Amino acid sequence: MNSIEILDKDSITAVKLLPAAIEITSQERRMIKDAAVHLHRKYGSYENRDFIRHVHQLASYFLPERILNIAADFASDFSKDQYGALIFKGLMDIDQEEIGITPSNWQSADSSKFNLYGFACALVHGALPSKPVQYYSQRKGGGLIHAIIPDEKMRETQTGSGSATDLYVHTEDAFLKHQADFLSFMYIRNEEQVPSTLYSIRSHESIGENFKPLFERIYKIPKDANLETDTNEEETLDSVLYGNFRLPFMRFDAAEQLFNPDIQQSEEAHHCLSEFWEEARHLIYSNFTPQAGDVILVNNHLCAHGRSAFRAGVRNIDGVEHQCQRRIMLRMMSKVSLIDMRAHTLTDDPFFVIEEHLGKNFQQLQNV
Ligand SMILES: [Fe+2]
Repeated sequence: MNSIEILDKDSITAVKLLPAAIEITSQERRMIKDAAVHLHRKYGSYENRDFIRHVHQLASYFLPERILNIAADFASDFSKDQYGALIFKGLMDIDQEEIGITPSNWQSADSSKFNLYGFACALVHGALPSKPVQYYSQRKGGGLIHAIIPDEKMRETQTGSGSATDLYVHTEDAFLKHQADFLSFMYIRNEEQVPSTLYSIRSHESIGENFKPLFERIYKIPKDANLETDTNEEETLDSVLYGNFRLPFMRFDAAEQLFNPDIQQSEEAHHCLSEFWEEARHLIYSNFTPQAGDVILVNNHLCAHGRSAFRAGVRNIDGVEHQCQRRIMLRMMSKVSLIDMRAHTLTDDPFFVIEEHLGKNFQQLQNV
């Protein structure tokens, strides 16, 4: 599989639009922590549906006004100047000692250690406003927050548990009609100093004009490496760009749509995707290295994300390799409307999404 080309300095300067970075003040950080502690006492867990149902009101009540305003502007700004990703620097202080040694994989992580951070992330989504949800297609649901931890057994895979290969830029769950609207990535630790990778559809000039065929429903959008694909699903086609013609949204997964050897796009689709990728790959931004407590908030219709290859548990300082704790990141996904995707959620839990592939649900959960 090809690797993402690492950008040189000249191509970085060609990327005009950048994600906005917001430095959280110590006073704001204190307010957020106090809110999380209070909500933890009241609701026990961020999974508590009473908390999630009230998350918008609670965000308005508890979050600093500046963050509320930034979040509200971000949620409905689809303009040419909106990158589609925000970086909140130092949103929370992370108690590294309390987190302890990084577990060997997400399955063995003690999620109670992430409880306060889960409340903080949920409030940020609540401020957009957008509702935290879980996807059966990801970890069979697995809760509203997923710990992303490098797993030795999965190191070569194109998944959050991988590490040894570049994770190609992708919009999350590109293979779903009701993919998350917003994502947050909270960094608990990133001692290896792995840069995050972001790519915005707004970084292209005249995308609608130059890439008209991407609006056509001629592309295979296979499920990602976490899931098995059956051959019928490969025949379902959709567009890469949608929404407004001049300032479109995108569903795009370079690894699955372009480089998955099992997926044969039609000649026309492959040609259009290749031309698009030829421009897109030069617009990838990977100059930000998140630190513990940082949060990247992403509009999943405007901005794709990925990561460079790294060696889990190894930090390079001035050419010397040191052992370190492996990286931990918390991902939360949210939807603006529970109503729009009601045909794809559990009967008794509208926060649990059961879409399997482009409008089709997981059969076994259809009538649950
Ligand atoms: Fe992802």
